[in-house]
Amino acid sequence: MIETAPKKRLYIKTHGCQMNVYDSERMADVLRPLGYGLVDEAEGADLVVLNTCHIREKATEKVYSELGRIKRMKDRKAEAGEVMTIAVAGCVAQAEGAEIMHRQPAVDLVVGPQAYHQLPELIARAHRASGQTLSADFAADEKFDALPAGRAPTGVSAFLTVQEGCDKFCTFCVVPYTRGAEYSRPAEAILTEARALAEKGVREVILLGQNVNAYDGIVGGLAALAHQLARIDGLERIRYTTSHPNDMDGALIAAHGELPQLMPYLHLPVQSGSDRILKAMNRSHSADSYLRVLEKIRAVRPDMALSGDFIVGFPGERESDFQATMSLIREVKYAAAFSFKYSRRPGTPAAAMPGQIDEAVKDQRLAELQALIAEQQATFNRDTIGKTVGVLFEKPGRHKGQATGKSPYLQAVHVDGADHLVGKVAPVTIIGEAPNSLKGQLAGEAF
Ligand code: 5AD
Ligand code: SF4
Repeated sequence: MIETAPKKRLYIKTHGCQMNVYDSERMADVLRPLGYGLVDEAEGADLVVLNTCHIREKATEKVYSELGRIKRMKDRKAEAGEVMTIAVAGCVAQAEGAEIMHRQPAVDLVVGPQAYHQLPELIARAHRASGQTLSADFAADEKFDALPAGRAPTGVSAFLTVQEGCDKFCTFCVVPYTRGAEYSRPAEAILTEARALAEKGVREVILLGQNVNAYDGIVGGLAALAHQLARIDGLERIRYTTSHPNDMDGALIAAHGELPQLMPYLHLPVQSGSDRILKAMNRSHSADSYLRVLEKIRAVRPDMALSGDFIVGFPGERESDFQATMSLIREVKYAAAFSFKYSRRPGTPAAAMPGQIDEAVKDQRLAELQALIAEQQATFNRDTIGKTVGVLFEKPGRHKGQATGKSPYLQAVHVDGADHLVGKVAPVTIIGEAPNSLKGQLAGEAF
C-alpha cells in the first residue's frame, strides 16, 4: 500500500461530452496520490478544475463568466488566509491556451487534454509561482531526495552546497516538490567559503546541488565558478555532484580539458537506456543524446571516470526496455554507479501510472544490472594498475605508517610509508587491488 498525503479538497466541474467525463475521472486519479479527494462544491475547495467544452456556441464566454464566480470564491478563501488553485482543462484550454490566464488572472494553470498526466507538476509549478510550498504534503523519505552525501568528507575534503532544488520534474521524483525551484547561491559567498576552507587545510571541495550543473549564480555558470575556485591557493581538487545530462554545457565540458583541478570523475545519471521509458520519466533527453554528451566529455578528458544512477522497474518497463539500459551500460563502461528499484512516491505522476512492475521482476533486473556494473567497476580499477596518479591523502591507514587517499577517479588507495602526507597530494603508482580499494606506492614528491 502507498501512503497518501493529507486530504485536500478537489472540485471538478465537467462540461460537454462523455470524453470529458472520462478525462475528469483520470484527472481525479492522477491527483489522488497528491492528496486530493473529490468534493461536490467549489466553495472552499483547495483546487478547482474547470473541464471545459468548446462545442457549443458561446461556450468560451460561459467559461469566463464561470471563472468570474470561482474567482470570488478564491477571494473569500484568501480572506481566510487559505489558497484556492484554479485550473482550466479541456477543449477551451486547448484552444485558448495562455489567453485564459491573461483574461482571468485568478486562473493558476491551463492544461490541455494531452497533458493531464502532468497535472501534479503543473500544480507544483503554480504553487511555487504563488509562493506556496508543497513540502509538508510529502512523506519525508531521505532515501532518494537527500543531497548526495556519499562518504562523510574528511578534514581534507569538504562539501560545499552551491545549488538547491530542481525544475526538472522527473515523474518518479519528489525533489521538485519537496525542495522547490532551482536556486543558486551567489558565487561570492561560495568563493569566500571556499577560501576559508582552504585556509583551514581543505584541499578538495565537492560542490553540491540537486542539479549542480544548472548552477547560475555567476555569469558562465558552473564552468565559470570552477575557474574561480581553481585560482584559490591550496585548493587542489574540485568535484561536483549531481548533474543532469541536459545541463552539461559546452563551457563545463571544456573546463574539464582546461582545469587540472577539475577531477576526471563525473556522476551523470541517465536512469534508463530506453527512450520510451525516458519519455515516461520526463527526462527530456534520449539515450542517444546522453551518449553524445559523454562522447564530447571523453574527447576533452579521455580518462574520465563515469558514474550514473539507474532505476529498474519503472512503470511500463518491458524486458526490452531493461535490455536497452543494459546495452547503454555496456557501451558507456562505468567506473561506478548507483542503482535503484523503482519505488512509488505518493504525489509523483509515476505513482499513478499503469503498468507497475512486480517486485520479483525488479529484484531480478536490479541484480542483473548490478552484476554488470560490478564487473565494469572491477575492470576500471584493474586498468589503473601500473599507472601513476595523484593521490590526495585523507587519513592514516589501518596499518602503521600507511595512509589512505583518493585517486582522481575517486578510488580509495592505500599507500605504505605515506602517513606524513595526510592533507597532501603525491604521485602514486597503483600496484594492486584490495577489496573495494587499490594499493599504491609513492612515486615522487608530495605537493
Ligand atoms: N524510485 C527509485 N529511484 C529513485 N530515485 C529518485 N526517485 C526514485 C524513485 N521514486 C533515484 C534516481 C535519482 C537518485 C538520487 O535516486 O536514480 O537519480
Ligand atoms: Fe529528481 Fe534529479 Fe529528476 Fe530533479 S533531475 S526531478 S532531482 S531525478
